[in-house]
Amino acid sequence: MERKLSKASRSLTSSAIQELSHLAQRCGAINLAEGFPDFPAPPHIKRAAVAAINADLNQYRHVQGICDQLAVMMKQNHGLDVNALTDFVICCGQSEAFAATILATIDQGDEVLLFDPAYETYESCIILAGGIPVNVPLEPPHWTLNVDKFMKSFTSRTKAVVLNSPHNPTGKVFSKEELEAIAAACCQMDCLAITDEVYEYITFDLQKHISLASLPKMQERTIITSSLSKTFSLTGWRIGWACAPTTVASAIKNIHVRITDSAPSPFQEAALAALQSPPGYFKSLKAEYEARRDFVIQMLSDVGFQISFKPQGSVFVFAELPKNWLVSDIEFVKVLIEKAGVAAVPGCGFFHGDIDDQNLRTRYVRFAFCKGSDTLNAAARKLQDIVGSTGHLQL
Ligand SMILES: Cc1ncc(COP(=O)(O)O)c(C=O)c1O
Repeated sequence: MERKLSKASRSLTSSAIQELSHLAQRCGAINLAEGFPDFPAPPHIKRAAVAAINADLNQYRHVQGICDQLAVMMKQNHGLDVNALTDFVICCGQSEAFAATILATIDQGDEVLLFDPAYETYESCIILAGGIPVNVPLEPPHWTLNVDKFMKSFTSRTKAVVLNSPHNPTGKVFSKEELEAIAAACCQMDCLAITDEVYEYITFDLQKHISLASLPKMQERTIITSSLSKTFSLTGWRIGWACAPTTVASAIKNIHVRITDSAPSPFQEAALAALQSPPGYFKSLKAEYEARRDFVIQMLSDVGFQISFKPQGSVFVFAELPKNWLVSDIEFVKVLIEKAGVAAVPGCGFFHGDIDDQNLRTRYVRFAFCKGSDTLNAAARKLQDIVGSTGHLQL
């Protein structure tokens, strides 16, 4: 039967990360692996979803109010004038918005630049569309953009640059200067920019999220994708959107309609309530996540990690294994699950390109801190339980 499978599907094999995820489940490990919250969603949003279900909003649906509200937020947050009637597509999460964007813009053989390490799904979507991912390495410890290397990655076939800021897995927020370099390159090379801004409201230490589209001459060539998932702790509700120049938005909509037709109706109604949350909601979201970030950094430092890059946003710490721990990221996570009962994600799955320093690929582990205090405290206790007399994890 395998020979009946498409080449594209055969290129997507199950990874060591998935196997470790099964191991974590079998061991009942505390989950600091996956980027979904384990605390409740805000009550006002849940009430709106329940009301929508009780009102029998059960059919295919487009809630224009979401687009109207997003247009207001684009203006308030980024100074962007967006046509609410024509420039948004409501999708099943950022994931569908991104996939539909790639299908709407990438032809066979088109090259798409990705910053490496990267969230895993970009590469797969590009390959499924027949495009060619081209990886541009970010340089540790601060995951800096090397503008020279970036510029050298462009060819006459480069169609788009994908930018995820705040960034999964590193927690980097791209600086204004880096964004300016990316914008200048996109304009000079006449490329599209596709942004993933799902962590737009989760930034720390006075860092401000800047949308690439807000830089001069960028709105006309940028497709913004984002979602409710992270901002409102609703990863399973599958509401996201693409915001793009009208012609591109219309192409994305045509693809979205053929793939899923509409995002879940009751949750679209609730999305409107979510997006209309008062400013205090967004303020406390940041403060609570900043406290969780600090907790996890302390927790890791207490067991021997030296965190050289404090996340500036997102819900992840991408921690380098201390030099004297002579294990790979996969071996480390396996032992962490089996001995400490705590699950994290080996960093290797986020690196896609040829990196100068091959050690990098196997020396990072990603810890998610989108977890309630009970979970984080339990994880810290479990790690402490296997600390040896050196004060470091006894692996
Ligand atoms: C960078 C990034 N983009 C997108 C997603 C998925 O977003 P959604 O749930 O809206 O599909 C995730 C989830 O972990 C993510 O980390």
